[in-house]
Amino acid sequence: MRDNDWWRQAVVYQVYPRSFADSDGDGMGDIPGLISRLDYLTDLGVNAIWISPFYTSPLHDGGYDVADYRSIDARLGTMDDVDTLIAQAHARSIRILMDIVPNHTSSEHPWFRELLASEPGSPAWDRYIVREGSGPDRETPPNNWRSVFHGRGWSHIRTPDGEPTGYWYLHLFDTTQPDLNWDNADVHAEFRTILQFWFDRGVDGFRIDVAHGLVKEAGLPDFDYPTTDDETPAMFDEDVAHAPFWDQDGVHAIYREWRTVADAYDPPRIFCGETWVPNAGRMARYQRPDELHTSFNFVYLEAGWDAARMRSSIDETIASHAKVGAPPTWVLSNHDVVRHRTRMAPIDADGSVDLERGLRRARAATLFTMSLPGSMYIYQGEELGLPEVTELPDDARQDPAWHRSGGTDGTRDGCRVPIPWSGDAPSYGFGSGAASWLPQPPDWADLAVSQQSGSDGSTLEFYRRALSIRHAEPALGAGPLGWLDSDDDVLAIRRTATDGSAVISVINLSDAVLHLPRAWGIDVLVASSEDVVVLNTGDQPALAIGPETAVWLGPTS
Ligand code: NOJ
Repeated sequence: MRDNDWWRQAVVYQVYPRSFADSDGDGMGDIPGLISRLDYLTDLGVNAIWISPFYTSPLHDGGYDVADYRSIDARLGTMDDVDTLIAQAHARSIRILMDIVPNHTSSEHPWFRELLASEPGSPAWDRYIVREGSGPDRETPPNNWRSVFHGRGWSHIRTPDGEPTGYWYLHLFDTTQPDLNWDNADVHAEFRTILQFWFDRGVDGFRIDVAHGLVKEAGLPDFDYPTTDDETPAMFDEDVAHAPFWDQDGVHAIYREWRTVADAYDPPRIFCGETWVPNAGRMARYQRPDELHTSFNFVYLEAGWDAARMRSSIDETIASHAKVGAPPTWVLSNHDVVRHRTRMAPIDADGSVDLERGLRRARAATLFTMSLPGSMYIYQGEELGLPEVTELPDDARQDPAWHRSGGTDGTRDGCRVPIPWSGDAPSYGFGSGAASWLPQPPDWADLAVSQQSGSDGSTLEFYRRALSIRHAEPALGAGPLGWLDSDDDVLAIRRTATDGSAVISVINLSDAVLHLPRAWGIDVLVASSEDVVVLNTGDQPALAIGPETAVWLGPTS
């Protein structure tokens, strides 16, 4: 594979910087903390790090509310720290992907301040989506769009003394995240230069926030919501797929423009879009050869612990990406969704979440996912088997959706709890301070890196082993995937390299022991649980694997 094509099969590790490692003991993770853990990431076997935003921000939405796209939040570090991070990551052959937020700025961004300080109709107003309200006093919002974080999607523009005017600005997210107007030439020019600013510093690419949302349907028509009350459907719901603010055809012109910017660099820089669209066909449109290199595959993430849905999402993804010549991506967890250990866990008869089986399933699903062709994303802490933290005190919660929904939604803080590095240190070694910005649960000592490192059977060692095999086995590269016959609750694939060598990857999603066909062999490369036995009952030995277990077999030539 050419080096410029590294992203086609990369293992990308997502860092949520405030929660990864805290170098100065203020309870918040930072860039120097991340630098101090680069060796850990090298040992884990990642090719790239995607870092959630670390720009100057009032942090009303975890940094996805950017006040200055060319500076670093002082709590997270300095520009020198970022330069050091890029240099030190590159010295370890790890690429750096940043996160760009083009759908909205923070309301503290100079552009929005300029808007508030100027007259309606002045050029500053055209950079955001602002409309007059309707009704006699213009008291009714311009249309019925809702915020993804609950409540209405429009707020009054207010006078300096706080009086509402008859003008409203759109915010598909929090009130502090006004949507930019991508029909405005300033917006295009500004983002092109922001990209260049970071590419010039050596950043290898960007993950694009809400990549499917930048363009809104002309005329901003009302949307026929599937719910009649104030409930906001999740971004991913099939029902909102055709909303006039998602996945509009016009958005693709922006990515063609950005691709030209990225391709002007040597090596070319790359993009991964956050495209919450309901099917693989719509998603692949973003990966046409002159647009984004990759996009997150949320269709697969949403398939859950379900063999049929996993299989159909894999088939659809591979087929639709093949048409545009792009590699698929695979992801099971990120900073916006319940950690997959908890999400996949069965609920016991008494209503409790069975986290032991959740971990077993998560490991199996991860191993199977790692054997799929394309790139894969790992969310910090999943390699430790961290569960979602469900017991956060209300006053610790920061997710704006939690506050805007009156505490009925907005569970995203639970996957953002800081990482436990050492079992016996305050804040589990996250930082030198005793506390972290989101409180860690009392029972995380055994999950810490220090406890799992070198410990046979730990989730961390399992990830390390699986990733090192993924990198070493030619069959787990770009070659084809073929399905093998299996029971309904089982998925089995053969991956083949150009040299003809093959690896079989099997996941048993059932709660029964599975006997594998003798022809698949007994050479276990790696397994997600210890429940793998060789049966010597016939002329030729065969394998049996336990419930909720995955294995890789081979290689065969
Ligand atoms: C998607 C990001 O992943 C999420 O964390 C953020 O709240 C929204 N976009 C708004 O920027």
